[in-house]
Amino acid sequence: MDNLKQITHIDNVRLGEDKASVVIIDQTKLPSRTEYLTLRTPKDLYDAIFELKVRGAPAIGICAGFGIYILARTIDAKDYEGFYQQFCEYQNYLDSARPTAVNLSWALNRMEQTVVKNRQLPVPEILEKLEQECMAIQEEDMDMCRKISEHGLSLLKNGDGILTHCNAGPLATSRYGTALGPLFLGKERGMEFHVFADETRPLLQGARLTSYELQKAGIDVTLICDNMASLVMKNGWVQACLVGCDRVAANGDTANKIGTSGVAILAKHYGIPFYVLGPSSTIDRNCKTGQDIQIELRSPDEIKKKFYETPMALEEVKCYNPAFDVTDHSLISGIITEHGICRPPFTESLKKIWEG
Ligand code: MRU
Repeated sequence: MDNLKQITHIDNVRLGEDKASVVIIDQTKLPSRTEYLTLRTPKDLYDAIFELKVRGAPAIGICAGFGIYILARTIDAKDYEGFYQQFCEYQNYLDSARPTAVNLSWALNRMEQTVVKNRQLPVPEILEKLEQECMAIQEEDMDMCRKISEHGLSLLKNGDGILTHCNAGPLATSRYGTALGPLFLGKERGMEFHVFADETRPLLQGARLTSYELQKAGIDVTLICDNMASLVMKNGWVQACLVGCDRVAANGDTANKIGTSGVAILAKHYGIPFYVLGPSSTIDRNCKTGQDIQIELRSPDEIKKKFYETPMALEEVKCYNPAFDVTDHSLISGIITEHGICRPPFTESLKKIWEG
């Protein structure tokens, strides 16, 4: 396999052959080590999601789909009611691992609906349906990423400078990724891009994962600290910003990794188009605006200690560590899903997706 294909076909989340485990790449070990983890218990799955060993909205959803399937197989219940009750307990537990990325609850709800729809079947047959459903979630994501990549690529020209924030590549999804998908697809077709990857404080997804994926795939990538984006834009080196999303409200307000809204504000200032790319499963019709989106707050240690040999602030110093922010829809030039490119006003264009 060539280097590009090795990245676009990276085996980031899969159902174990024994159907009693989920196997993931431990994203916290990259780029220095490629280590696989085998998750078997509810706590293994919860911790892997909470600690960002598996991360990126679609990948979390896929992992949760496989996860609830392997847990369902362990349920020892006399009847459907007992099975369903234990299933829901596992569902709620996994769902509580992270609140912002809608794909987690979306995938778990989809699995729950499979149980409910097939309640007349004996449990072994419900389990077969659940296996088909979790495999379908992953396969559909592969297909959606490919389509998103095609639509996104139609917005870019050979030689463009691109700025991205966080990681929305193959590690965060299935295959090509969302925000990085057009770049991998363009590379496959002989196009060249110059990509600026924000390091993405405090957890450094841009440094650890995005620059790793792009470099390994042979795409020209330059890593910058988050606070350098303005200068890079001012220098005229960026023709488009491409970012992923964790939850998109019905009006187009978009939750993504903390710092994304700052990038969008800068892009507006410099007249650079700012695109959000994600599967339609990341659009949450139940959120009217970004104000309805719950933002995950994480430990101060991620800011003060995580990547340092010694703490970078006094123990008693207060820290505020929101993992996401919401980019106002007015700053977004287009939202790209597998269905195409939605333009403002998003209330209208996103609605068309649901109406088919
Ligand atoms: O906290 P993370 O690393 O899970 O945050 C991920 C992001 O914000 C990504 O940009 C988003 O999930 C899109 S992944 C295709």
